[in-house]
This record gives sequence, C-alpha cells and structure tokens, in this order.
Amino acid sequence: MVWHHTVAPGDVVVVDRNCHKSILHSIIMTGAVPVFLTPTRNHYGIIGPIPQSEFSPEAIERKIAANPLLAGVDAKKVKPRILTLTQSTYDGVLYNTETIKHALDGYIDTLHFDEAWLPHAAFHKFYGSFHAMGKNRPRPKDQLVFATQSTHKLLAGISQASQVLVQDAPSASSTATSSTRPT
Ligand SMILES: Cc1ncc(COP(=O)(O)O)c(C=O)c1O
Repeated sequence: MVWHHTVAPGDVVVVDRNCHKSILHSIIMTGAVPVFLTPTRNHYGIIGPIPQSEFSPEAIERKIAANPLLAGVDAKKVKPRILTLTQSTYDGVLYNTETIKHALDGYIDTLHFDEAWLPHAAFHKFYGSFHAMGKNRPRPKDQLVFATQSTHKLLAGISQASQVLVQDAPSASSTATSSTRPT
C-alpha cells in the first residue's frame, strides 16, 4: 500500500536485502529499479545489521553507479524514491531511526520502516528511538516516514489486521489497513 502510493515504474528504490517477500512483490508490481543495502552475515549464517556506512547519499550513489540496470544513468542526478528497511529482523536487529532519518534527510524523501514485528516498541521506553515514530518524537525536516506494523502478529484475535503509521513534517496520523497475507 505504501509503495503503490509512492513508487512509479522506473523509480530507483533503496531496499534492505534482508527484506520480506511483500517488499520483493512491491518491486515487481511497481516496476521499480532496486538498489540493495547489504547486511552483514556471520560465520553461523546469522544475518546482522546493515553497516551505518551504507546509509549515506555517497554510498547509495556508488551503488546506483554500479547497478547494471542503471547503466548510462548519472548517479548524481538520481533521487531515490523510497528506502525500505526491515526494522526488527527475525534475529532482532534494530536501527536507531533518528540516525537514519538524519543521514538521508534531503536525499530520500520517503522512508519506510517495515515494523511488522515491532508494534509494541512505542509502548516501552526501552526502545527509545529504535522504532520509527511515537509520542514526543522529533519530526524530520523534509521527510515523509511510514511504519507498517503487523498488529496481528502480536495480538492474536485481531485476525490479519495491520496498520500504517505516517509521520510527516507538519502533521502525523495513523490509519488501519489490511494485511498483505493471501490467506
Ligand atoms: C518482516 C515482515 N514484513 C512484512 C510482513 C507482512 O506483514 P503482514 O502479515 O502484516 O502483511 C511480514 C509477515 O510475516 C514480515 O515478517
């Protein structure tokens, strides 16, 4: 839903390589050109975080320049449409979202945190800014931020409900939507 609202065919999108299949479906359905951020992986095969150095406009520009699907395109003139990040991986990796917002403010206008497994974070101070948005959190200067959360994963009984949280510079709101699940 977030991508259908935001992304058009041919748009360059920046995507966590360790993403849910619904994000891969989004790439296919919108006809976007993906540039992947690659997480670390240790010798047990466990997927770790994407290094902070990958979240800079310069690092993303280098990836655009190296992307065979974007051959001949001037990387400096590309403005990626959206960044989607898995915010809580299955192994529990979380990012400081304020660091990421700050690093990309003015470069990528729309950030999407896939918080499928993280709807509870806003309710405990332990999580601090390691979730996308909440009460008394600062608003980015120029960005529109989405968090998609699978409430159904935490609250059995509300079936397949998910929600999309939206934070923008002047105002914020939240809306309930349906799940990407086919069943
Ligand atoms: C990381 C991640 N993102 C997205 C989804 C899809 O969420 P939903 O079931 O709310 O459509 C899942 C579901 O398993 C997931 O694990």
